[in-house]
Amino acid sequence: MSTLRLRGFDIHKGYLDHPSQKAVIEALRPILKAAPLFTPTVSGGKKMSVRMTSAGAFGWVSDAAGYRYQNHHPAGQAWPVIPKPILDIWRDLTGLDREPECCLVNYYGEGARMGLHQDKDEADFSYPVVSVSLGDDGLFRIGNQTRGGKTESLWLSSGDVVVMGGPARMTYHGVDRIRFKSSRLLPKGGRLNLTLRVVT
Ligand code: SIN
Ligand code: MN
Repeated sequence: MSTLRLRGFDIHKGYLDHPSQKAVIEALRPILKAAPLFTPTVSGGKKMSVRMTSAGAFGWVSDAAGYRYQNHHPAGQAWPVIPKPILDIWRDLTGLDREPECCLVNYYGEGARMGLHQDKDEADFSYPVVSVSLGDDGLFRIGNQTRGGKTESLWLSSGDVVVMGGPARMTYHGVDRIRFKSSRLLPKGGRLNLTLRVVT
């Protein structure tokens, strides 16, 4: 494990060892069964390349009606609860008593990416966002607190955890690309990213 700080983001390289990564994947299995990944659409009807689902009281969705947090999967069922091995990461790294209300699960298959954006649909930005990388490497880009300007990128690998808090809570970030099949954690390849957020 080593921690580096880049533009206010705390990047815990190798935070989860291989057995812990496996344990998180096992804990995600029933979630993906109960709340299958779906492809969100963004304004204009374009499909995102990332597939998503959530656990917790709220999940993030984006469809023809816009993007928002809601208390149920697009198919109607309540989101599954956030499993303990994932809550443990939040508690350990944030030291907060308050638990996250959303664990957003992003799946990046071959060719998937996520454009630069801010996480700003939550009510209270004093809570950090904790982001867990699993599976294939992803090229993570960090920008500034306003759109534009120079950016810096680094590869996130399976087991890395990023804490976006303090002033960096509003920093633009995104994923340019993944190295498909660079990891064998997920049998079919791809990258899973979990982001833990306090929503209300
Ligand atoms: C996100 O910003 O929601 C995802 C970041 C990542 O996939 O590392
Ligand atoms: Mn984000």
